[in-house]
Amino acid sequence: MKLLLTGVSGLLGINFAQEMMREHEIIGVDRGKLVHAPFKVLRHDLLEAGALDSILDAAQPEWLINCAALADLDACENNPELAKRLNTDFPRQLARACKERNIALIHISTDAVFDGEKDGFYTEDDKPNPLGVYAKTKLDGEWAVLTENPGATVARVNFYGWSLSGKRSLAEFFYHNLTHNKSMSGFTDVVFCPMFVNNTARLLVKMLKRGLSGLYHLVGTQAMSKYQFGVEIARKFSLREGDITPKSISFSGLLARRANNLWLSTQKLSTDLGENLPGFSAGLDEFYTQFQQGYPQKIRSYQQP
Ligand SMILES: NC(=O)c1ccc[n+]([C@@H]2O[C@H](COP(=O)([O-])OP(=O)(O)OC[C@H]3O[C@@H](n4cnc5c(N)ncnc54)[C@H](OP(=O)(O)O)[C@@H]3O)[C@@H](O)[C@H]2O)c1
Repeated sequence: MKLLLTGVSGLLGINFAQEMMREHEIIGVDRGKLVHAPFKVLRHDLLEAGALDSILDAAQPEWLINCAALADLDACENNPELAKRLNTDFPRQLARACKERNIALIHISTDAVFDGEKDGFYTEDDKPNPLGVYAKTKLDGEWAVLTENPGATVARVNFYGWSLSGKRSLAEFFYHNLTHNKSMSGFTDVVFCPMFVNNTARLLVKMLKRGLSGLYHLVGTQAMSKYQFGVEIARKFSLREGDITPKSISFSGLLARRANNLWLSTQKLSTDLGENLPGFSAGLDEFYTQFQQGYPQKIRSYQQP
């Protein structure tokens, strides 16, 4: 199938393209980072007037996954207007255009729409309560997409993997600090469900193939603290887990408020796909194998030197 990916230079976008380029015709949209990509790239700023129509006219996709976002929580607090334009207004415009052109759309959202106050896991029926600008603009984006285009899909994700910058994912943060003997802390009171990003990509394609629509949680099947995640990375790479200091997020000094509990149930997705979602340790094994095989260097070689 012909699949258009916005945000192809991002953590999800680049790994999705790399994973799926043999099976599907991938056309990415980026702002100029990818100059040696082994798939087609259209260069556009998505917020420029007329950009979306030009992209859709040129690409003529059957499927579209919107991975573009202002996904840095603190940047959103500092620039709420830009966050709204990218995370809410653009998805609305995209959903409308996909409906008009009969393009199957998955819009990527976030686990962070919840306030984390619930004791236990969140399902798609639980009421979100965003804590900051990022979460609020993403939630508004979900609503805008599903209102404009009820046949579209919204996937609330959380993932880790290798990125173009080497800094985008939490796994890279721990790997980098552990290998550079830098002190770091891991939050013991923030629970989330990390999924290996290539698994996210595979499941997104399965969702498109099945023609799913509506809201889905697409996160890892195991909930753990961010500290525990760091320990898992250290163990996998035979690095010193003792270099990670357990800490409470209350002392983080981060600008945007973060929820303590982002344990999301994936039961709905698992049922509708008719399969169990991949487990945490298999994903972590693959993340490590990629490292051994020089995958991070390979994707980074697609960038401008
Ligand atoms: N990382 C996670 O674990 C996580 C967790 C929850 C939800 N999500 C969601 O997953 C999606 C993908 O996240 P990610 O981690 O891959 O994000 P990311 O690495 O920050 O990538 C964002 C992408 O959006 C592009 N972009 C931003 N503004 C643009 C513009 N005006 N025109 C064109 N492209 C623009 C960026 O391009 P440049 O490279 O040119 O800046 C980049 O390719 C987002 O919707 C995010 O909210 C991610």
